Amino acid sequence: MVEKVVIGNAELWHGDCREVLPLLPRFDLVLTDPPYGIAFAAQPTKWQRRDGKMPEDWDNAPAPDWLMGLMREKADRLIIWGGNYYSLPPTRGWLAWRKPDAPPSMADMELAWTSMDMNSKVLDQSISATNAERVGHPTQKPLRVMAWSISFAPDARTVCDPFMGSGTVGVACSQLGRSFVGIERDRKYFEMACNRVAQAQAQGALLTPEEQRQPVQEGLL
Ligand SMILES: C[S@@+](CC[C@H](N)C(=O)[O-])C[C@H]1O[C@@H](n2cnc3c(N)ncnc32)[C@H](O)[C@@H]1O
Repeated sequence: MVEKVVIGNAELWHGDCREVLPLLPRFDLVLTDPPYGIAFAAQPTKWQRRDGKMPEDWDNAPAPDWLMGLMREKADRLIIWGGNYYSLPPTRGWLAWRKPDAPPSMADMELAWTSMDMNSKVLDQSISATNAERVGHPTQKPLRVMAWSISFAPDARTVCDPFMGSGTVGVACSQLGRSFVGIERDRKYFEMACNRVAQAQAQGALLTPEEQRQPVQEGLL
């Protein structure tokens, strides 16, 4: 059964985005991190297993093409992390999160496809710096990476993440004063997202709209 929780200017849906997204209006920005189809969540590390993490199958296949098409109907501006795993139109505007401390067994960077006609950009963010934020989602994105992503759509008032996970985009939107709509199918991740967004909403927006409009300058790809 689909459930909707409203927290301040955030709307969190517990349900399948294949059912919920068609019901939603258009947004200024879709910023999301869908399954990459690489079965990462199916292979918990020995440390995650020690903490009781079980293999999960949600990352075994990428989202279907029709769902990517539906997301593109829901906004003119899209930022899709893991976009290199999908058949998306050519773009100039890739975003790269570079992990300076990635071990040899891991990729040095993750890529986001954007629909924006802009220069490609790189952000350095270490994995270890992100550990303090972890709430138990196996592919939780760093908050800084999602806030940086939003900075490329400085006037976007409404943001949707149909694959919300632990709600990192929702936390970034709460801090930046943007309205957020997120969807998550897994109950435990939905609860994590509700808790994180409630905490962020209680703290209020951290930056004034003027401060948020500062362009972010990082190295060119
Ligand atoms: C890559 S993770 C997102 C992680 C998120 N960016 C974070 O920082 O926590 C993708 C999420 O999409 C969820 N998911 C997969 N298929 C879904 C569907 N059809 N509808 C809604 N959520 C789905 C998974 O349960 C998983 O939590």
